[in-house]
Amino acid sequence: MKEEKKIAVVTGASGDMGFAISLMLSAKGANILMLDVEPPKSNLPEGAQFFEGDITDKSFLKEIIDRFATHQGKINYLVNCAGVLWFDKDRSLIDIDFNVWDKVLEINLKGAALAARYTIPWMKLSGNGSMVHISSIQALRGDKKAQDAYGASKAGLLALSKSLAIQLAEYKIRSNAILPGAIHTQMQKRWTQNKRLAKTIAKTVPLGRLGTKKDIANATSFLLSDSSSYITGIELIVDGGLTARP
Ligand SMILES: NC(=O)c1ccc[n+]([C@@H]2O[C@H](COP(=O)([O-])OP(=O)(O)OC[C@H]3O[C@@H](n4cnc5c(N)ncnc54)[C@H](O)[C@@H]3O)[C@@H](O)[C@H]2O)c1
Repeated sequence: MKEEKKIAVVTGASGDMGFAISLMLSAKGANILMLDVEPPKSNLPEGAQFFEGDITDKSFLKEIIDRFATHQGKINYLVNCAGVLWFDKDRSLIDIDFNVWDKVLEINLKGAALAARYTIPWMKLSGNGSMVHISSIQALRGDKKAQDAYGASKAGLLALSKSLAIQLAEYKIRSNAILPGAIHTQMQKRWTQNKRLAKTIAKTVPLGRLGTKKDIANATSFLLSDSSSYITGIELIVDGGLTARP
């Protein structure tokens, strides 16, 4: 039997993980709406459409999602991948500028909530759905060199994901979170600039290497697909064993 064509929305799709996830979805034959504030650095994968815009802009987001879904007739998948980690400005709550705090929470948490709000009606119409929210292991732990807005936003995403899982289970819509560890992407370009630092961090990872965008695309593929049809409301840690360390 031929499998039904899947229709997906990916935020942060010009970023390293978002683009790798879009490529993975394209390879599985999906049609994809790719959203980002930045244009993609490579040619779009087959079946993908890209729109440049800010996911915190409610009217932009709703209009683009509704237009895409009307054309496709449904939405099956949402991947909330857009996010910011501002090393220079995101600090301890003791001295962070709360305008920075608000902006990080707005992008990392509210942006994901808005994308979920506007895709859920279309998933209900499809009779099924699967969402993956890209959180972070920083949602689970503290750090002396704190990035408190980032950690709080990513922890908020976990609560939101679980709540959606419970609210939407009766509609056969699943919601799960992925918690990446140290993944070598554009967000961590400091590791490309400082190879020694990259090596030092890799040594702290039990599996002995930094993670890749492919590691995250593989985990996302599993959680979106029917292979995980009995899994909802979980946090999948993809960190090479970092958080399991004593
Ligand atoms: N790289 C890591 O080590 C790591 C670890 C844990 C979690 N994460 C999370 O993984 C996700 C993907 O990050 P990445 O490593 O691929 O970094 P990335 O910087 O390559 O990708 C993030 C993308 O989000 C986009 N974005 C930012 N604000 C946006 C907005 N308002 N509207 C639309 N798009 C916006 C950026 O333009 C960028 O393309 C992020 O949510 C990040 O917090 C990354």
